[in-house]
Amino acid sequence: MNLVCLRGFALGLLAAGVSAAVGQSAAARISYNPESHVFRLSGGDAEYAFGVNSKGALQTVYWGGRLAEADSLPQPNPVDRAFEIDDTPQEFAGWGGGLLAESALKITFADGDRDLVLRYQSHTLRKDGVDVLLRDLSREVYVTLHYTIDADTGILARSATVENRTKATFTVEQASAAQWNLPASAEYQLRYLAGRWAGEDQLESRSVTPGSTVLESRRGTTGHEFAPWFALARNSAVTERDGEVWFGSLAWSGSWRITVEQDPMQQVRITGGYNPFDFAYPLKPGERLETPIFYGGVTQHGYGDMSRLESLYQRRHILPHGPNPKPRPVLYNSWEATEFRVSEANQMALAEKAAAVGVERFVMDDGWFSTRKNDRAGLGDWWVDKQKFPQGLKPLIEKVHDLGMDFGLWVEPEMVNENSEIYRQHPDWIIHFEGRPSSQARHQFVLNLALPAVQEHLFQVLDTLVTDNDIAFLKWDANRNWSEPGWPQAPVAEQKKLYVEYVRGYYALLRKLREKHPKLEIESCSGGGGRVDLGVMALTDEVWPSDNTDPFDRLLIQDGFSYAYTTQAMMAWVTDSPNWVNHRSTSLEYRFLSSMQGSLGLGADLTKWSAEDVATARHMITEYKNIRSTVQQGRLYRLVSPRSGSDFSSTEYVSGDGKQAVVFAFLHSQQMGYPAPQSLPEGLDPAAFYTIRMISGKLTKGTPARASGAFWMQAGLHFELNGDYSAAAAELSREP
Ligand code: GLA
Repeated sequence: MNLVCLRGFALGLLAAGVSAAVGQSAAARISYNPESHVFRLSGGDAEYAFGVNSKGALQTVYWGGRLAEADSLPQPNPVDRAFEIDDTPQEFAGWGGGLLAESALKITFADGDRDLVLRYQSHTLRKDGVDVLLRDLSREVYVTLHYTIDADTGILARSATVENRTKATFTVEQASAAQWNLPASAEYQLRYLAGRWAGEDQLESRSVTPGSTVLESRRGTTGHEFAPWFALARNSAVTERDGEVWFGSLAWSGSWRITVEQDPMQQVRITGGYNPFDFAYPLKPGERLETPIFYGGVTQHGYGDMSRLESLYQRRHILPHGPNPKPRPVLYNSWEATEFRVSEANQMALAEKAAAVGVERFVMDDGWFSTRKNDRAGLGDWWVDKQKFPQGLKPLIEKVHDLGMDFGLWVEPEMVNENSEIYRQHPDWIIHFEGRPSSQARHQFVLNLALPAVQEHLFQVLDTLVTDNDIAFLKWDANRNWSEPGWPQAPVAEQKKLYVEYVRGYYALLRKLREKHPKLEIESCSGGGGRVDLGVMALTDEVWPSDNTDPFDRLLIQDGFSYAYTTQAMMAWVTDSPNWVNHRSTSLEYRFLSSMQGSLGLGADLTKWSAEDVATARHMITEYKNIRSTVQQGRLYRLVSPRSGSDFSSTEYVSGDGKQAVVFAFLHSQQMGYPAPQSLPEGLDPAAFYTIRMISGKLTKGTPARASGAFWMQAGLHFELNGDYSAAAAELSREP
């Protein structure tokens, strides 16, 4: 049967074909074989193939390492069983026929019929992909599956468009972007990112066993609880360096769901898209529903290569200004220093200190507008507090410019306090159910961005703010999730469209603002890392992973983050010690080195820093500017993970041209005077020579000043780390 075919076929070809292809990075190749009806998409070292069987069903044929062009892939098996489609690796299963497995699309028709069986109609090849049109057995329901493959990384972008060409409205009750089928096996290991506020992106791992694992958000936004991302390793032997890993990321900032399912025949499929929970999207005749994009890739070289492929892809194809987004400037943010107590004088004082240590962007956080003295009032009233800033923001902005920095401002456009002018004027603008209490979180409600009036209002407010003031950057916050998700203004049958229309409204607002102000940069923050996904990353320049700024906790958060997202977008601030989250005390050097593994920022009360602190900060920021393009845009190697209570961790970044490598090492706690383990760098040229230079800390005595890449990779770097929370970093420069 198909199961055997898929498994045997994939494994057999892997053994025979892949080794020849690894390392080759040819252009994308798209083909369709009219005899076998098989489509093949290859890019980088990856290949994806699917085909049309004799009944017109679309089935996955292969997903793995790149194959030889001459390899012939068989036609998918004809299905001939009663519950035929349950057993077959369907590319995009409609809920109908005998389907018991997870469906990609479920529809209820006006006459009560809910049977949907999709069959191939036609296709259009593009130079980087293919669009395949499917149609229901009898009804004029059309689904176009979109596939695009990246020539360098082999990462696929998949999505679907559902179209109603019938004469009556029908309701879409589940719409996925894609289903991914893997060769049948009981050995898979799933990795995913779970967490909570101030504890985001914790890497979790479990064996894939019969049944489903559901990763999701029901909260209206991406959420802190799970990242819309998965990695599936072929077995438990897969490491950072070796073994086959399939991975995927859903580009959606609203409620989402990814289901990883092993069926009774050990077939594994991953389905992801809009969360079907509380979901209903009526489509009138002629209307369409577009799904988000589900990105997916595969590597033969372990989790490390997976993350490097994702990072490269995100910088080239997701982040604005790709393929070469600008490295992030060193930023200062006032939140932890002044919280809501901002004033012209204290911000100017902080700006002077920030400029003196080498900061390039000064960002004033919450507290600058209307009656905002705490989190109970003023949110939504986006005019400057004249008591705090009698002449508006201009004097502060001019001062920041005179100090050689650009200026950024905190906003939280989607939310309002109950105690605000805007809420008093437009109580019906919030998401709510009529006549029912609306829950508050942080004393605030969520505006309904599906309402055109709200969108227009927010555009006008933000546009005026950015036009009237020389603002280079907005930190766009969203400090709560939805509750009581009602949209009473919409017809009853359409109210659940909120889950889609809100996010579209949010994206449209970001897009419009960027179009009008092309130089404006934006950070996505949501009470820390509550809105990090490839959807929002396409419209913002950076993200805030967590409100937890403790440098030791951050090692874990950053480690998890790096599995799914590029460090270019990962902001990391140096804040005061003891840290506000856990009162842990750490040295300033340790805090800098923790943050220098991402896009560096400062969030401390600099007016309280000693002359020695200032000198340390100036030194570290100078060092950071020398390595930042390597850290943000180079290749990351997670040498030793900070997970599992490990006492030691180490990361390495290698620049795109291979000329610079940076190694960081962190000791949590030393016992019995044991020396810290060595860091074994990777990705160096074994034959080239590299000189070593300390960024911070020391290497053990006897370390040579220059040595071959082979030496550094095999003998390693022995940092002298002692006591608790000790850290060091070194730069390796390749000799010309
Ligand atoms: C959220 C953010 C913080 C800060 C505050 C301001 O908690 O994550 O960084 O901006 O809001 O109210």
